[in-house]
Amino acid sequence: MENKNNEEVTKTNKNKCLLSGVCLLAGDPDYCYDMCPSYIGMHGVSGKSGRVGSANAPKEYRLVTLENSPAKKNQPAIYRELAKYARSFNRMFDENETNDPLLRIKNHYFYSKNTGTGKTTTACALLNEYLIRHYTLSIKQGKQPLNMPAFYLDVNDWQGLYNKLTRPDVPSELKEEAGAKYYQRMKYAKTAPFVVMDDIGVRDATDAFKSDLLNIINERINNHLITVYTSNIPMDALQEVYGERLWDRARDLTRPIDFEGNSKRGNRL
Ligand SMILES: Nc1ncnc2c1ncn2[C@@H]1O[C@H](COP(=O)(O)OP(=O)(O)OP(=O)(O)O)[C@@H](O)[C@H]1O
Ligand SMILES: [Mg+2]
Repeated sequence: MENKNNEEVTKTNKNKCLLSGVCLLAGDPDYCYDMCPSYIGMHGVSGKSGRVGSANAPKEYRLVTLENSPAKKNQPAIYRELAKYARSFNRMFDENETNDPLLRIKNHYFYSKNTGTGKTTTACALLNEYLIRHYTLSIKQGKQPLNMPAFYLDVNDWQGLYNKLTRPDVPSELKEEAGAKYYQRMKYAKTAPFVVMDDIGVRDATDAFKSDLLNIINERINNHLITVYTSNIPMDALQEVYGERLWDRARDLTRPIDFEGNSKRGNRL
């Protein structure tokens, strides 16, 4: 292929691989292409699967990192803190390192009253940092990386599946489909080492749905797994939604971060 100055242009996978920021071969046409084993490990043969695909983050956030996030400029202090926290992931994979205070902050709660302040963007950036570090450190240590190190759960979307599953007027084949997805996501959200629970502050949930949600949170706390929550409801107000006992436990291990400002939706250059 040639560009308009008749210079040869070789396409590489640099702009579509989550590992580009850490890979010494990124952009090298001899290595950086669809058949690169690490590209396949992260994005699959189709480019839409692999560990990034199974993490299930919305498409627009799949390549966002703490370095390239559009929300970084407006939230510099938050991004500095989170970069420090993400570096501590390296030590989480090392069983001998348990004394770092950062390792004790397991979870984060991203809150803003306004919408569009960068909470989901930042939660996905952190999820992607986890994916990158888990993959590269596993390879360095000669271990097989997990197939699903991280998972993104859109709580509203998940509640939509629940409603489909329980509403009497939905045809049974659609119920079956919704049920399969609902329970599969529940399983992944319970077991993945790193999970984003996006928009946790559901207000109009039935007791049965809340109980499923609490079940996920409870299992994650018991198994010391990392969770990033995002919400438009302040962390303390959630105990009204979920009850004091469990939420008190969740709060203990969670650092709240407030996202300031007005909506930045549509501001991307
Ligand atoms: N500081 C920023 N500068 C430019 N664009 C931004 C900034 N923060 C977020 N965005 C963009 O605005 C859009 C909304 O961001 P995001 O979904 O992360 O907001 P949110 O806080 O999760 O909103 P909600 O409360 O509705 O869930 C995205 O397209 C994101 O890329
Ligand atoms: Mg959001």
